[in-house]
Amino acid sequence: MEPAGIYEQIHQFSNRADPYPLYAELRGTPVSRQEDGSYVVSTYREIVALLHDPRVSSDRRNLAHPPAAAEGLPAAFIGLDPPEHDRLRRLTMRHFGPPHAPGKVDGMRAELLEIITGLIDGIADRKRADIVDDIAYPFPVTVICRLLGVPREDEPRFHVWAEEIVETLGPGEGDMAERARRRQAAVLALGRYLGELAEAHRRDPGDDLLSGLVTDDGPDGPMSATEVITTAAMLLVAGHETTVNLVTNGMLTMLRNPWLLERLRKEPDLVVHTVEELLRFEPPVQFLPQRVALDDITVAGVTIPKGSSIVLALASGSRDPAHVQDPDRFNPDRAYNQHLGFGGGVHHCFGAPLARLEAQIALGELARRLVNPRLVADPPAYRPSSTLRGPRHLDIEYDHVT
Ligand code: HEM
Repeated sequence: MEPAGIYEQIHQFSNRADPYPLYAELRGTPVSRQEDGSYVVSTYREIVALLHDPRVSSDRRNLAHPPAAAEGLPAAFIGLDPPEHDRLRRLTMRHFGPPHAPGKVDGMRAELLEIITGLIDGIADRKRADIVDDIAYPFPVTVICRLLGVPREDEPRFHVWAEEIVETLGPGEGDMAERARRRQAAVLALGRYLGELAEAHRRDPGDDLLSGLVTDDGPDGPMSATEVITTAAMLLVAGHETTVNLVTNGMLTMLRNPWLLERLRKEPDLVVHTVEELLRFEPPVQFLPQRVALDDITVAGVTIPKGSSIVLALASGSRDPAHVQDPDRFNPDRAYNQHLGFGGGVHHCFGAPLARLEAQIALGELARRLVNPRLVADPPAYRPSSTLRGPRHLDIEYDHVT
């Protein structure tokens, strides 16, 4: 089969539960041109090279044929290049805590533990739960709402918008114009909501990130009103739609590998390497679909013409046998585990310290407190997105909760 066919198959819903054999086929052609003129890059070395290449842009306005339909809001810094990207990322970081010395995030450990304890207590009077709806979704959502200063009771409203934005991200099945329209409507609704909230925080600032952004008058500040909205929307969506999949994929992997559950109970510190291995083995972000070549770029003998769309298949790169030994085996004891779960280069995940800590605490507590947990169905029902991939529900049974 032609490589183009393989890439299309990966996006078909029927392959959502196990796309990994298809990635292995895709790597047979490290840089493959698709029928729509885009280039899919699937091997570790080539993806890393492009993540660090300044000729690769994250700004879709650089496409030879930029999308006709406006997105509804300008891009947040995830969709901008330096120097604009750097200014907005730096400004946001001032109110979030630096990524590699995560003082602020580490200080949240007790609060995260309190939230997860409450959620697990909530399923203690039953013998059956849905890990997604009961634990993995409400946990990071509560955290990102507190961090940003968004009232938790408003969550059901933007839950719908965040989901709509993610489900319509990247390639998928269905009418493209209809998907673009749904996406734009959701982006605009979320933008309106955040605009009003930012205004309220400007009048009456608190100790939260949104208040920090609207009142910042430091060397890079202030952000424009629109920049505040796009930044907050990005953080809210990232906080909603990624960690949920890491925790759920983690629980699924633990239940498929009872030895892992057993070891985590005896060696709680193993959760740190478990989460790293999950980011390699079952990463929530499977693709970065949004890059653009600013020049002709030759990689693995293929020249990607200027203006082309580039898709980086992160999940494929992290299972590249040229990079990692025995890539299809879940092994938390790997001495060397460089994965692409958080991307790389200037756009390396801003929330990585928080996401890591959330997943470590959630999975550690689930392993410790659930007695004899079992999967009700394997594979579980997946969410539609092939880009942000994870189960929609993960029903489990257990004897009791300690
Ligand atoms: C960027 C993954 C959680 C905020 C990224 C990128 C990846 C990623 C792959 C690179 C995007 C690109 O290069 O285009 C993940 C995963 C998470 C997670 C797997 C959870 C397990 C979070 C959380 C937040 C967050 C909780 C917010 C607090 C961001 C932001 C960017 C980003 C703002 C853009 C950074 C930039 O453009 O400089 N994330 N993320 N992420 N992530 Fe995360």
